[in-house]
Amino acid sequence: MTELVTEIRKRLTFAIISHPDAGKTTTTEKLLLFGGAIHIAGAVKSNKNTRAAVSDFMQMEKERGISISSSVMGFEYGGRHINLLDTPGHADFSEDTYRGLSAVDSALLLIDSVNGVEERTRRLMEVCRMRSTPIITFINKLDREGKDPVELLDEVEKELAVQVRPVTWPVGQGQSFKGVYNLLENNLYLFRPSQVEMPTDVVSVKGVDDPALDQLVGDYLAQKLRDDVELITSIYPPFAVDEYMEGLVTPVFFGSALNNFGVRELLDNLVRLAPSPQPKKAEERSILPEEPKFSGFIFKIHANLDPKHRDRVAFLRICSGRFERNKQYWHVRSGKPFRTANPTAFMAQNRDIIDEAWPGDIVGLHDTGTFKIGDTLTEGEDIHFQGIPSFAPQIFRTIANADPMKDKQFHKGLDQLAEEGVVQVFTKPHNQNVRVLGVVGQLQIEVLQYRLEHEYGAKCRYEPVEFTVCNWITSDDARAFEAFLDRYSHKILMDVRGTYIFMAENPWLLARMKSDNPTIRFYPTSEMIESRA
Ligand code: G4P
Repeated sequence: MTELVTEIRKRLTFAIISHPDAGKTTTTEKLLLFGGAIHIAGAVKSNKNTRAAVSDFMQMEKERGISISSSVMGFEYGGRHINLLDTPGHADFSEDTYRGLSAVDSALLLIDSVNGVEERTRRLMEVCRMRSTPIITFINKLDREGKDPVELLDEVEKELAVQVRPVTWPVGQGQSFKGVYNLLENNLYLFRPSQVEMPTDVVSVKGVDDPALDQLVGDYLAQKLRDDVELITSIYPPFAVDEYMEGLVTPVFFGSALNNFGVRELLDNLVRLAPSPQPKKAEERSILPEEPKFSGFIFKIHANLDPKHRDRVAFLRICSGRFERNKQYWHVRSGKPFRTANPTAFMAQNRDIIDEAWPGDIVGLHDTGTFKIGDTLTEGEDIHFQGIPSFAPQIFRTIANADPMKDKQFHKGLDQLAEEGVVQVFTKPHNQNVRVLGVVGQLQIEVLQYRLEHEYGAKCRYEPVEFTVCNWITSDDARAFEAFLDRYSHKILMDVRGTYIFMAENPWLLARMKSDNPTIRFYPTSEMIESRA
């Protein structure tokens, strides 16, 4: 086996998707703790920020080192090199999270047993479904009185459109939580609450009918487990790895991250099941990780918020071949060579300069304005990776320069911040001067204003727009499309790629436009247009 193939098989690049408060920070920390990457709890800072003012947010970002060091956490466990991508906790920055999902090969779906499936999980899972991303599910907080486990599985199946295959099953819940029963191994993992140690007593039993169960968890819970197991084995077919790989089914584990319970089994199963780097679709062809020539794409750009050092870090996901420091690569969009002197890898706590990296790895490139999100680097081939989507924003504003003396700074700032993905900028098809911002959350607008002022010395003015929803549009019927663009020109904008978007006052009107205009296709993300192209 070549070194390249060995390194690829070792790699496992994934992200955790969850609703805020489900326990992502806690679970991340425990995975790192069990993985030996950190030694004390409390080392992973929560990036949640429920409702802070913009200045608090900026301060917090600075303190966190702009989330760079914790953006990708690399560690070794069970013979694999794991790259765990952190995703922003704040809902206003969910676009960043969506884009992060384009750089992973699988995901861990985390659900709070008390709240069940929640809003953000739904949206993030939609993105995973679009790409058939393999998902492992962890149902957390079993030490609390939560929803009935069968009900939770039902919710996951119905609301997230993925079939579930329970691998462990809880014995009791909340106050009476005794542990989990592993349906594949016939083991009982006994629960002892502990936030500091990592104890799990594992007892092997001869199936659920073993009388030892009654002694271990009491007659009532033992009988309930028997009934539950009978029920779930009659509902759910056995877990099949290939169905997981295709993103059709998700194995489900139960536990309590805060109490270190169930996390080791989760990690063990993650390294056993989760796919190594997968082929990546480009417009031209599909790129296999084993191809000897390097290729990769930029999925995130992070600015240094300190105005004295306005450098940026571009996050490169390696898709094929071996990446080497100091080698000259090809920046496809600009058609120019690119050389990187100090690429960094992300280990749990540090940024280290690296000499080489492999498919599945994420490398930080020092960027002085070369990159845009979605850019491809290769050894010379012109390829354009797909799947770095823009999502339909939910808030729109026109933006104008408020200080005529600072016109240049304003445009430069706006362009650069849009490249970073802080906001999406749309223009009128025939009037580039009208700029409309689209964002997913209000805080993005405030951050843009703050950063324009503090980093570029420019002032901006916002004006409200009557639209609240948009879709990307296209059509196979050129004449009908032209007529549509003409008729609704006051509702048409263009994105940076020159693709048209249609704006509507409310979802109901958008739905009516769709049904009234069957020759026009409407898409809630730009990725759907790309994947048809
Ligand atoms: P997030 O990153 O997804 O937003 O969630 P985070 O890990 O910060 O967890 C949210 C809250 O849920 C925290 O409590 C955390 O301690 C708690 N939590 C996580 N896992 C479990 C679990 O297995 N059982 C129980 N009972 N609670 C859990 P908090 O009060 O918001 O914060 P803190 O004061 O404990 O830090």
